[in-house]
Amino acid sequence: MGSTVLFSPAKINLFLAVTGRRADGYHELVSVVVPVDFGDTLGIETRAGDEFTLECADPAVPRGESNLVLKAARLFAEMTGRAGGAAFFLEKRIPIGAGLGGGSSNAVAALRGLNFLAGEPLDAAALAALAARIGSDCALFLPGGPVVMRGRGERVEPLAVETAARLRGRRMLLFKPGFGIGTPWAYAQLAAAGEKNYLPAAEAEARLAAWSRDARAPAEAILFNSFERPVFQKFPALPVLLENLAAEFGLAAHMSGSGSACFAFLPDGVATNAVAARIHEAWGMAALVVETKIC
Ligand code: C5P
Repeated sequence: MGSTVLFSPAKINLFLAVTGRRADGYHELVSVVVPVDFGDTLGIETRAGDEFTLECADPAVPRGESNLVLKAARLFAEMTGRAGGAAFFLEKRIPIGAGLGGGSSNAVAALRGLNFLAGEPLDAAALAALAARIGSDCALFLPGGPVVMRGRGERVEPLAVETAARLRGRRMLLFKPGFGIGTPWAYAQLAAAGEKNYLPAAEAEARLAAWSRDARAPAEAILFNSFERPVFQKFPALPVLLENLAAEFGLAAHMSGSGSACFAFLPDGVATNAVAARIHEAWGMAALVVETKIC
């Protein structure tokens, strides 16, 4: 019997190029993704028997087998052949339908925790393979720092140390309107508009390579998201505010993943309170506004 508590970070896509659609319906992408110091907390207690349970005070968190924590636990038991159950306690802060990878991050925290409590039966490669089976946005959380993600999300490599150093510690404001966006819906919108929403893979790779090579290129220079065009068309409240933040505060704000959360780097000297007030004025008090930084 044992227990552990893990931090389960949110992620932000600084660069998200959807490069095309595959025969199986999934999309190919090239993305620079960073974990931030804002996130959930997952407690795990091993239990006799073979049952996995999840407690969470947030009613929006899916229950039962559709929850990625329970899916992770089931796959971990299957892959390791280990008997024994566990109780999971999730303190939820990352909103759902935000493009912040909350559910995927929770699943990876569950995998890590179960592996630790079992004496590390799975190595890094086995954990990566398992993570990819849980969801496209899971494997990116395993390295624990800035990564480049390719394929449908399962091919992940850490950014070169000097490139990651340009990102780590950068302060950002994370903000989300009261509504969320479902990832399958956003992909369907993007696909419906055909080729014009895809950035060809060669161009995505060339942009990434040029940014990585240029040691003076700031984090701001890589910002791009293929989902912005289709999602902004349906939710004009997003681009209207982002344009206002650019005009009034000089902030280059973008959406993360398939939305609806957005983010902006905070240059020194920008009054965070004034920006937060502007966001609440535009999106109402139901909007979430958090200051965070890249891990
Ligand atoms: O893999 P995951 O279950 O997280 O994906 C959720 C949905 O998002 C998929 O069913 C698919 O519609 C879409 N998706 C996609 N291409 C990806 C990742 C997700 O089309 N690379």
